[in-house]
Amino acid sequence: MQFDTVVRGGNVVTPTGAFTGDVGITGEKIAALGANLDTTGAKVIDAAGHHVIPGVLDVHVHLALPFMGAVSADDYRSGTRAGARGGVTTLIDFAIPYEGDSLSAAADNWHKKAEGKALIDYTFHICVTRWDEHKDQIKGMVDRGFSTFKEFMIYASEGWQSDDRAMFGTLEKMKEYGTMLLVHAESAGVLDELIARYHTPELMKKYGARLHPMTRPNFVEAEAIQRAVMWSEVTGGQLYIVHMSTAEGADIIRAAQARGVPVLAETCVQYLVLDDSVFDGPDGHLFACCPQVKKPKDMARLWQGLNSGEVSAVSTDTCTFTREQKALWNGDWTKIPMGLPGLETLLPLTYTRGVLEGRISLQQMCDKLSTSPARMMGLYPRKGAIQVGADADLAIIHPTTQHTVSPKTMETNADWSPYDGWKLAGFARTTLSRGDVIVDDYKVVGKEGRGQWLPRKSAGLATSDSAGA
Ligand code: URP
Ligand code: ZN
Ligand code: ZN
Repeated sequence: MQFDTVVRGGNVVTPTGAFTGDVGITGEKIAALGANLDTTGAKVIDAAGHHVIPGVLDVHVHLALPFMGAVSADDYRSGTRAGARGGVTTLIDFAIPYEGDSLSAAADNWHKKAEGKALIDYTFHICVTRWDEHKDQIKGMVDRGFSTFKEFMIYASEGWQSDDRAMFGTLEKMKEYGTMLLVHAESAGVLDELIARYHTPELMKKYGARLHPMTRPNFVEAEAIQRAVMWSEVTGGQLYIVHMSTAEGADIIRAAQARGVPVLAETCVQYLVLDDSVFDGPDGHLFACCPQVKKPKDMARLWQGLNSGEVSAVSTDTCTFTREQKALWNGDWTKIPMGLPGLETLLPLTYTRGVLEGRISLQQMCDKLSTSPARMMGLYPRKGAIQVGADADLAIIHPTTQHTVSPKTMETNADWSPYDGWKLAGFARTTLSRGDVIVDDYKVVGKEGRGQWLPRKSAGLATSDSAGA
């Protein structure tokens, strides 16, 4: 058998284990796995001494998002280049309707943002922001190839907030259509009350950006997760908690899963590697995101959740704002454009802090960054695993070679990084997307606009194998 490309001699991580050998690629697909594959006429990529892992899926990304008086600074050009450098070959963004827009208009709008710019493959979660208007549009979006929907339990000021009626009704529909509802779980009523209590000139002068974690104690997330889980339990609708940041949240998810509730949860890499001491520095406001990074005990519990299973994926919630954009806060923490850069460092951080520091195995990392996200989001087996018939999306990483994180040398449009100066292994020496080399020798070489939209039929664990390879 002859191939267009053979990735030769790497430690190839497949869903059933790793082996030292070759990946044969024909066209856009993986055609064979084995030792000493025929290289006649093939382009040979030497992977000796490297791990060959499935391309990463970052299933929680916001590119060019108008939010809190700014537009997030990574668009589909810089964001997908940043992802590629970090071994990400698929991303899922959130199509959020602008004022008065239908769900379909939101999807059209996000398609326009991506077209001609995306280097890697992508799709969108469709955000239901006005239940009465949007509820009858959900089925049409399923028919258009979208299988994940999203509701925010906060952000009334953006016009995005959903109430229990919306969550309950959407989960009923998810059950009916075999699709999944993603929820940003923070308790708006209590959060608003705490913010109102602390929002005084004296306290802002005294505490600055520290007021962000002070007004978001762990119960703000925990109560909201508990309530969303209740609506999943009674409707049977598949629920997915995004950016879970607390130990309490992980405990609730574990207990719910044990009694058979169809709920899944992701965390983001910042909740695994940063704690809230970041708010004490002079640049504390840069680190503000919702929910905020928590305490070392929460970090430890989330790593444990990756091991014991209640945390199914690690994503980034990339929502990049530059120093100039973050300066909009002007001393008032409620006005900080919330969010962090992330696509470029997801794999290096998870690999370095997770695998190299012994918190998870390489196999587990590939599951949490690729296979499990692909399954949950209805993209498996086309995406998420090195196996015959799948898209040839691969990241080739050196086991120990480190690069120092510096915004000056990164692809992101951020002019700062939460990880500035950190030495990390796991940047992609080579990234392949559907058989094309898009990163070579740690540099982006792929052409913008080659990324494709990925249609999906279903989502959630019960119906995971729907996207044809
Ligand atoms: O701070 C964040 N996370 N910004 C993006 C919006 C969201 O809540 O995901
Ligand atoms: Zn959110
Ligand atoms: Zn988000």
